[in-house]
Amino acid sequence: MQILPSILLAFALTANAHTHLSNIWVNGTRQDPGHCIRPYGVSTRNSPVQDLSSDDLRCRTTSMDPSDTDTCGVVAGTNVTAEWHKSDGTGTVISSSHKGPCLVYMSKMDSEGVGNVWFKIYEDGYDPDTDTWCTDKLIKNGGKLDVTIPVDIEPGNYLMRTELIALHNAGSGASSTGSQTGAQLYPNCAQLYVSGEGSADPTGVAIPGVYKPTDPGLDINIYKDFKSYTIPGPDVYEPGSD
Ligand SMILES: *[C@@H]1O[C@H](CO)[C@@H](O)[C@H](O)[C@H]1NC(C)=O
Ligand SMILES: *[C@@H]1O[C@H](CO)[C@@H](O)[C@H](O)[C@H]1NC(C)=O
Repeated sequence: MQILPSILLAFALTANAHTHLSNIWVNGTRQDPGHCIRPYGVSTRNSPVQDLSSDDLRCRTTSMDPSDTDTCGVVAGTNVTAEWHKSDGTGTVISSSHKGPCLVYMSKMDSEGVGNVWFKIYEDGYDPDTDTWCTDKLIKNGGKLDVTIPVDIEPGNYLMRTELIALHNAGSGASSTGSQTGAQLYPNCAQLYVSGEGSADPTGVAIPGVYKPTDPGLDINIYKDFKSYTIPGPDVYEPGSD
């Protein structure tokens, strides 16, 4: 037990800049850095979450107060593009060593992300045919990822939680004690008003809660041979299945 704080300290000290959701694109227009995104601390915005029981796993934000950021309107069934960078909307996306999946969830905003409220709308993990992770594609694409807002969800205010999971230290084992994981999780939340004709209210899961250090998608050594990769969390919500 004594070794844990020193491991965490070592991680903190060696942690160079990682990444955060810097911009979203709505209706094909790039929003300014941080616009319609729950705020992050300037010095902490690139720091990963590694405690799977931490409330930071929701949105990695300094404020869950909806009035602390704008809300961007988006029509159900259209795409929102998430864009990640280390700096303010420019330059490096994420270190190329930080390989792993991309995941996107939504929840009704009035829940503030608490309870079984998060449904997954997108995931991309690993393609064994091309040995390509989602983060590899993201880097190639300038940090941008297109996500479709489910066409049938009921109109209203939502959080859209984007997440990258970096697995470069995931199989280290030593840190996979308690609720700590060797994986590095990078969640952030955009704040959206979804309009449309839908009425679906998809079943959700709790964040934190849904991930465990022993999940095969988090407890994995990506430097050893593996045949497939299991993305953590629930299945992606399919419109029409509510
Ligand atoms: C996107 O288009 C919809 C429909 O025209 C509009 O209601 C919404 O405000 C637009 N969003 C932004 C961020 O411009
Ligand atoms: C919307 O995003 C999906 C991937 O989530 C992509 O397949 C599709 O081409 C995108 N559509 C547009 C119009 O960009």
